[in-house]
Amino acid sequence: MKYTNLGSSGIVISRITHGCMELGGGPWETRNDEHNIKLLHTAFDHGVTTFDTAESYGGGHSEEVVGRAFHGMRDKVVLCTKVSREHLHKADVIAACEGSLKRLGTDYIDLYYIHWPNAEIAIEETMEAFTLLKQQGKIRAIGVSNFNKAQMEAVCRCAQLDGLQPEYNLLTRGIEAEDLPFCAEHNVSVLTYNSIAKGILSGAFHFGGKTVTDFRTAKPLFQPEALQKELPLLELLRDIATTHGVTLSQVAIAASLARKGVSSTIVGTQNEKHFLDNLAAAELTLTAEELTALDETSARVIASL
Ligand SMILES: NC(=O)c1ccc[n+]([C@@H]2O[C@H](COP(=O)([O-])OP(=O)(O)OC[C@H]3O[C@@H](n4cnc5c(N)ncnc54)[C@H](OP(=O)(O)O)[C@@H]3O)[C@@H](O)[C@H]2O)c1
Repeated sequence: MKYTNLGSSGIVISRITHGCMELGGGPWETRNDEHNIKLLHTAFDHGVTTFDTAESYGGGHSEEVVGRAFHGMRDKVVLCTKVSREHLHKADVIAACEGSLKRLGTDYIDLYYIHWPNAEIAIEETMEAFTLLKQQGKIRAIGVSNFNKAQMEAVCRCAQLDGLQPEYNLLTRGIEAEDLPFCAEHNVSVLTYNSIAKGILSGAFHFGGKTVTDFRTAKPLFQPEALQKELPLLELLRDIATTHGVTLSQVAIAASLARKGVSSTIVGTQNEKHFLDNLAAAELTLTAEELTALDETSARVIASL
């Protein structure tokens, strides 16, 4: 595993972050807590130190599972969690943070994010709460998720921003134009989610005969016409994967990690085999030619969708 700094916080994060949304009883939850705790330990044993959860995942259940998994080893892991967009008034942030601390079984959160922006609540008020929590030592660093450049600028006028968590993968590249350069300029680490486009970039739906039966049936990228248009990118991923003797998911994750300004990619799975697969992506180095080909093909595919 490789590691990097989280903004200027002094915190060190692993380049693969384990996503814990799936552990919370959400739409993908298929395994029990004991299975999930074992998987969290496997992640840790393989060098993953950074874990991403949220108060909203399974109504707090994901945080409880993470808290149980790392009880007694708090100083060895970086716990990241998020306050929901409906809790951004000052008193609500404080209460939400107390709830997360309790469920995580800790007295500090390493990286505390706003999950989604909320234009109805002044960011200055929300940041007052974050600043207070930081002064009290209850959070070590401030992050935002799903914020654009203008929204990050507003945060930076109030507080030190150390992390951005955006959606990013070879089929969703909206952050490249403005957000990544902004983060590089302001030393904000970028921890990306949706790294394999909810499973699409694994090739399972193009070559593995897998079909969606869950909430993803409503997602634009999973519509039959879209899957057809994505094929050139999937074929390229398959060619590159074959060259390196790895899986398509690993190539997709490695491509995200290779993007200048991306610090860590968040990958979520309850499947140990998939997890170990994804982990190996941190060690995979793609050539400049491969990255250029992925860049060009993904841009063409995105334009066609
Ligand atoms: N900030 C936000 O708003 C936000 C939103 C969504 C997610 N997240 C974070 O990101 C994490 C990951 O979620 P995501 O939405 O980004 O999903 P993702 O990682 O793009 O995809 C997850 C899906 O891919 C499958 N998968 C994973 N590895 C695979 C592999 N090697 N081969 C084949 N299939 C594989 C998983 O199924 P299996 O379980 O079968 O492997 C699951 O269905 C979450 O846990 C959460 O921490 C954040």
